[in-house]
Amino acid sequence: MTKSIGILTAGGDSPGLNAAIRAIGKSAIRSHGWSVIGFRDGFRGLMQDRVIRLNGEALSGILTQGGTVLGTGRDKVDAIDIGGTTMDMRGVMLETFHAHNLTALVCLGGGGTQKNALKLHNVGMPVVTLPKTIDNDVYGTDRSFGFDTALDIATEAIDRLHSTAHSHHRIIVVEIMGHNAGWLTLGSGLGGGADVALIPEIPYSMEAVASAITHRKGSGSPFSIVAVAEGAVDIELASQLRELRVQRKDAKASERVRLKALGKALFAGRTSTLDIAKDLEVRTGLESRVTILGHVQRGGTPSPSDRILATTLGAAATRSIANDKFGVMIASKGDGYRSLPLDKVAGRRKTVPLDHPWIETARNLGICLGDHQ
Ligand code: F6P
Repeated sequence: MTKSIGILTAGGDSPGLNAAIRAIGKSAIRSHGWSVIGFRDGFRGLMQDRVIRLNGEALSGILTQGGTVLGTGRDKVDAIDIGGTTMDMRGVMLETFHAHNLTALVCLGGGGTQKNALKLHNVGMPVVTLPKTIDNDVYGTDRSFGFDTALDIATEAIDRLHSTAHSHHRIIVVEIMGHNAGWLTLGSGLGGGADVALIPEIPYSMEAVASAITHRKGSGSPFSIVAVAEGAVDIELASQLRELRVQRKDAKASERVRLKALGKALFAGRTSTLDIAKDLEVRTGLESRVTILGHVQRGGTPSPSDRILATTLGAAATRSIANDKFGVMIASKGDGYRSLPLDKVAGRRKTVPLDHPWIETARNLGICLGDHQ
């Protein structure tokens, strides 16, 4: 009997998803003669059995398209909202899987998707995953597809902001996505020549940032580009959040829930990019403006590098299924890949290590990272 496999995409969309879908599908059809279906809108589509047949025609012409032809969603497989009630729907998802006689399900996504896939694997569904996210924060992989394209977009934005900041002698504060990791901000800050880069891994002090800008002004550069990661926090808030994490470790279950909610609320109330710009204006005497790049970073045509990465990992996912190797994420490693057990990946996040060469390089070039170094 012909083997069948399923594919779904989950979490935020990112450039390269269609290249990966195409690679999994084409290699499955051409190298193995399998049939391929896709589930719409992530795990919800799996639960609701909303399916699209991924034959040669459906897979044709999608390599260069941004987004995901399957649609996506941010549901949790064991806590999905069903008409106002939160339910564990893994049993129903397993039924759909078996109803289609699938050999495996390939889940394309970021950190949340790796957790969901592991939860399905733990109830007996053979899964293989791929790492995609513009944030580049999936644990265990050198790169996630989507990152390179988003890095291009953020860098180009900084390039464009330079000439206008220079002409008006202004500070331009540009907010960059990346969730709680600084890869996109630090990378585009280096690539675009930002003067300040504030990332979640290094809590900032407004005093240090203002002093760096004032110093530039004094040396004949009365304009600055400040790249701020959406998850950046100042030193005071970082220390409060750290303290809460310590308290949570020893707390009873109900208290842990309360402390977690408190941490979330404090984080949500962090100094906004608009407030950073206003504060810098007061401290430096330079006019300031704000640009929030937002979802622009997730859209558009994937870069060649993301297409190659997604295609390489997609074909490797099909080989993993052919070799009956399940419960793994196909991670990028150098120009190739490696298989990592999902339980080594799920629940962990790859942030920028403080000894990373990009941090050292930024410091060498005099880019202010918001601390007092
Ligand atoms: O994970 C990708 C990402 O774009 C993050 O950088 C950002 O924090 C988040 O998704 C935004 O999510 P949403 O598209 O649901 O607003």
